[in-house]
Amino acid sequence: MNRQVKNFKRIGVFTSGGDAPGMNAAIRAVVRTAIHYGAEAYGIMRGYDGMIKGDIIQLTSKDVSGIIQRGGTILQSARSEEFKTIEGRQKAYQNLQKFQIDSLIAIGGDGTFTGATFLNKEYGIPIIGVPGTIDNDLFGSDTTIGYDTCMNTVVEAVDKIRDTAGSHNRMFFIEVMGRDAGFIALNTGIATGAENILIPETITDIDDLIISLKESKRIGKSSAIIIVAEGDDLGGAYEVAAKVKELDSSYSTRVSVLGHIQRGGSPSVADRVLASRLGFEAVEALYLGYDKVMTGMINGRITYTPLEKAIKHNNDIDKELLRMSRILST
Ligand code: F6P
Repeated sequence: MNRQVKNFKRIGVFTSGGDAPGMNAAIRAVVRTAIHYGAEAYGIMRGYDGMIKGDIIQLTSKDVSGIIQRGGTILQSARSEEFKTIEGRQKAYQNLQKFQIDSLIAIGGDGTFTGATFLNKEYGIPIIGVPGTIDNDLFGSDTTIGYDTCMNTVVEAVDKIRDTAGSHNRMFFIEVMGRDAGFIALNTGIATGAENILIPETITDIDDLIISLKESKRIGKSSAIIIVAEGDDLGGAYEVAAKVKELDSSYSTRVSVLGHIQRGGSPSVADRVLASRLGFEAVEALYLGYDKVMTGMINGRITYTPLEKAIKHNNDIDKELLRMSRILST
């Protein structure tokens, strides 16, 4: 591919979709790299919503001081229905023109990148994506910003619940985030020695689940942890617990939905480093003439994946790990 070195003067940066720990580290990296290359950086508030409303502010190097360790996003985030319309995107583009923003860095997940591809197709503004989502459901990066911190939060919570499960001989159904992807459930399940892990990528057979719970009991376990991804085909943790109870009422069950605790908190070392590298590389990519790509990290190396590919495909979940976790937990 023949790329031309470009010269951008005003780079807009925004976060959109669900917030993820490490987004601030990515914003900091984008702003400071842009300034390093002689450009001005502009922060667009609340993602596409702020773009439509013209809520845009210049960010200096000082503005991004002291944010690398903070969770959430200083630019805030929103899911914008208006941006899904042609009129909404037109308003957004007019505001970008008003602020003379000539390129964009979009930090977020698949919804964010879908919006970015529309804007790019309709108005030709160069856009680079940075993968920021706890779900880890984007193709083109081994992990996404926020995923590691989220898993650490889940593991800390499950370890605590395990204490109560053991003390009261109870079976806990713990629901973790992941509407369409089971990465959080699978890896936190392995890390906490969960007796069962239910994910959207595999069909959950309730009879199988009961058999494996009975097996746990038979070998002398008096408590159990079942991690349920919110998007499991059998339902969320409440539904699964009710179905188990219906078929075998001998268990004392409890449900714990971890919820938005999984999205907050100070980013882990891994997320801070990943976010810094991907934010930096996103700006470099712009100057190197890349467009409509997502910066990612595969096997420790920076990669560029077309945004459309990053959205359409998912990293494959390793189903062998489910089998392994069953063996290790019985
Ligand atoms: O996309 C990240 C995510 O945390 C999903 O795992 C979850 O289903 C969803 O966001 C929840 O979104 P909201 O905060 O809008 O309810």
